[in-house]
Amino acid sequence: MMDRRSFFARLVAAAGGAALAWLALPGKAWAKKMAFGLDKAEALKKVGGQALIKLKDKEILFVRDGEASVRALDPLCPHEKCKVTYDDASKKVVCPCHKSSFELATGKVLSGPSPRGLTTYPAELSGEKVIVSLE
Ligand code: FES
Repeated sequence: MMDRRSFFARLVAAAGGAALAWLALPGKAWAKKMAFGLDKAEALKKVGGQALIKLKDKEILFVRDGEASVRALDPLCPHEKCKVTYDDASKKVVCPCHKSSFELATGKVLSGPSPRGLTTYPAELSGEKVIVSLE
């Protein structure tokens, strides 16, 4: 009998032409984690790069902040919902609308009118894959 993980792995294999190949991951929390290859987000191949990736019907901002590390954040500024970007020169996440800035690692507000920080998600690099947990 095929378990859920095997079924999902076969489903992903069958959808090989999809723009992003989402993979079931081993372990108990497999349903909460998703992965995509760096070939689907070229900007994340170099340190300082960033990419907006849509997961579970919401966009996530990924930032490659080290040779072996990547960060994931909600890109919507809590102030008035403008999309933030990463500024590699200052190493901060910044909002273009009213200049709020946020700490990359924690999403904490550093300056500006944002009433709270950005939501962050656990993310990691595993070889050529980015793995993120959205729950
Ligand atoms: S919308 Fe981001 S600071 Fe106002």
